[in-house]
Amino acid sequence: MQKSLSFAVIGCGSRGRTYMRIARDLGHTITAIADPSEAAIETMLGIAGDPAPRTFADADDLFAEPKLADVALVSTQDAQHFGHASAALRAGYDVLLEKPAAQSSEEVEELARLADENGCKLLLCFVLRYTPFYRTMKRAIDDGRIGEVISIQAAEGVGPFHNAHSFVRGHWAQTKDSTPMIIAKCCHDTDLMTWFAGSPCTAVSSFAEISHFRPDKAPEGSTDRCIDGCPHAGTCLYDANQYLTTQRRWLGMVRPDAEKMTDDDVREWLKTSDWGRCAYKCGQDTPDHQVVSMRFENGITADLTMTAFDTGRRTRIYGTKGILEGAIHADGREPWVECRPHTGGIEEIPIEEQETGGYAGHGGGDFGLIHALPALLAEATSDFIEGHRIGFAAAQSADEGRTVELTRG
Ligand SMILES: NC(=O)c1ccc[n+]([C@@H]2O[C@H](COP(=O)([O-])OP(=O)(O)OC[C@H]3O[C@@H](n4cnc5c(N)ncnc54)[C@H](O)[C@@H]3O)[C@@H](O)[C@H]2O)c1
Repeated sequence: MQKSLSFAVIGCGSRGRTYMRIARDLGHTITAIADPSEAAIETMLGIAGDPAPRTFADADDLFAEPKLADVALVSTQDAQHFGHASAALRAGYDVLLEKPAAQSSEEVEELARLADENGCKLLLCFVLRYTPFYRTMKRAIDDGRIGEVISIQAAEGVGPFHNAHSFVRGHWAQTKDSTPMIIAKCCHDTDLMTWFAGSPCTAVSSFAEISHFRPDKAPEGSTDRCIDGCPHAGTCLYDANQYLTTQRRWLGMVRPDAEKMTDDDVREWLKTSDWGRCAYKCGQDTPDHQVVSMRFENGITADLTMTAFDTGRRTRIYGTKGILEGAIHADGREPWVECRPHTGGIEEIPIEEQETGGYAGHGGGDFGLIHALPALLAEATSDFIEGHRIGFAAAQSADEGRTVELTRG
């Protein structure tokens, strides 16, 4: 029987709802919720059930009260994380914080310091660590199947339409509103690299480019909005008219009323919203591909490729006795892991069975994280910082064109 936790939810949007549905299913309670959106509060009240939690129109109002729960879930938008997480730590909450932790390396270190100072636990929603796929890879390494790990190669394919939706047209198109894309999208991956390497990272070097989503790559004669009679509507991969058809599911990520929208509502929305713009003319500052090289203190080297032009994650780990390789959500295939010993042959490694409570989100990681939470809170503070350090150093390296050495205070 798990320890039952009480939650204060800061930001009752898409992520907050997902985690809290799982938490309620696992027998945890929700005692306080904050969100300026009445619709978001209403939905969360439905998830919380009885007894109804106290409601607040802003995080600050909630934190002005004496502590109302064991854990504060901070699931507001990226630029709010540092402010809300620091307020929660100062108010004495253990904090479950959505990624990215903050907008700069200094802020991330400050959060870790505040957690220590206030005797609180601070955990990041690195849901991929709790997926059956990545647990299987980690166990294979820990069991010594490939001997000593020498180097790690990983790739994250954001997906062409996903990239255009989120990082060209959408919420994460401008670094100032979030973090550099290598953190906003890939802090999961850099976190996984540190988890696999089992050692702090000492140096990072990176290159990033906007090669495709730029005005000079726009198809000839394209209009500024896809709905304005663009001659490439129907053939362009990024045609926004697809929000009416094959890409309709993305509406749910940006419109709370997506399910109620008629086709005419969507057409109207495409006339004015950011998501109706030609994906080649959005002026985003996010790269569509970036490569990061890393050196770890124990001598392991690693590289990570982020690209808009693939979908899913692939990992290959080279060891003294063999190669461990796997992919998740890639090639339209089920996740797979295999080991190729240097003596020859291919050994398929079955993906661990893991309870997912019917929640498929993030390959079962959403459920896995909330399920593991009571145990994680009982452990020492999470080692979440290292992955963020790498991400910020990668952004700096790409900006400044030099290798960044990581020093620790
Ligand atoms: N762990 C992951 O893999 C993962 C996946 C997707 C998104 N995320 C991150 O999760 C976070 C939330 O994403 P989302 O899709 O749920 O966003 P969302 O916009 O649906 O939810 C954010 C909520 O915060 C509320 N809010 C705004 N100001 C507030 C305030 N002052 N006090 C309280 N609430 C306030 C908004 O009204 C909204 O309901 C983002 O930072 C995103 O980057 C993480």
